[in-house]
Amino acid sequence: MTDEYERSAEFVDPMLAAAWTALAPAVTEALRGAPGPVVDVGAGGGHGTRVIAQAVPGCDVYAVEPSAGLRAVLMARAYESPELRGRVTVLPGGLLDVTLPPRLGAVVAMNVIGHFDPGGRRAIWRLLGERLLPGGRAVLNLQPPAQATAVPRTRFGELRVGHRRYEGWGRAEPAGPGRITWHMTYRTLADGAPAEQAEVSYAWWVLDRDRLRAEVAEHGLRASPTGPGELGLWLVTRAEDVTA
Ligand SMILES: C[S@@+](CC[C@H](N)C(=O)[O-])C[C@H]1O[C@@H](n2cnc3c(N)ncnc32)[C@H](O)[C@@H]1O
Repeated sequence: MTDEYERSAEFVDPMLAAAWTALAPAVTEALRGAPGPVVDVGAGGGHGTRVIAQAVPGCDVYAVEPSAGLRAVLMARAYESPELRGRVTVLPGGLLDVTLPPRLGAVVAMNVIGHFDPGGRRAIWRLLGERLLPGGRAVLNLQPPAQATAVPRTRFGELRVGHRRYEGWGRAEPAGPGRITWHMTYRTLADGAPAEQAEVSYAWWVLDRDRLRAEVAEHGLRASPTGPGELGLWLVTRAEDVTA
């Protein structure tokens, strides 16, 4: 599979740090009492992997990451911590291509579900229906837009490292039923002057709450919102499971 993050990996991980400041408490709460092992789908550089390891004490974490660039960050983050080094297994590849444990306590899919087309999503719901342990759950977020509409150019991230400032910009345009194309620009400014610029585009499949509910129901699952509304977090559990 092509590495859609090859040119942006160096910026994506630090720019996701602020998002995880808000996500960490809500994801921790959503995972309270979940059994292991836990799969981190599209773990990126591992902000979420670290949160999962703290939220589910002692569990094995399988961090699935297809991008070699982001996986390098993930490996470094996991190796740096003696705790994570012993518990996190990094699986190179896409979720539907790697070998996972036969039974799963939790599956965390943060900032990633739009990378899966409807067939890919169906495969994920099937996997949850077949492998989730009692009391197990998936935690995912739905990111706007919920429909295949245009998103005007917006600055979504900014940070400074040394004498350089980095800005992340994004805009999206409709690209067919249920699909948009994101166009991202990462600008580097050296002492205030433009220095470098990386442009990246990728497909993103939109999903709204009604469709999420309907899709998972076909696999004996139930989706319910969790955490502060602005985070767009959802819990997916077995329909008959009332503990989560
Ligand atoms: C926006 S990043 C989010 C990273 C991380 N989950 C976070 O929130 O910090 C999206 C991630 O999904 C990964 N990804 C894309 N397609 C994937 C697939 N088929 N299976 C697993 N991960 C995938 C990307 O490589 C990237 O790391």
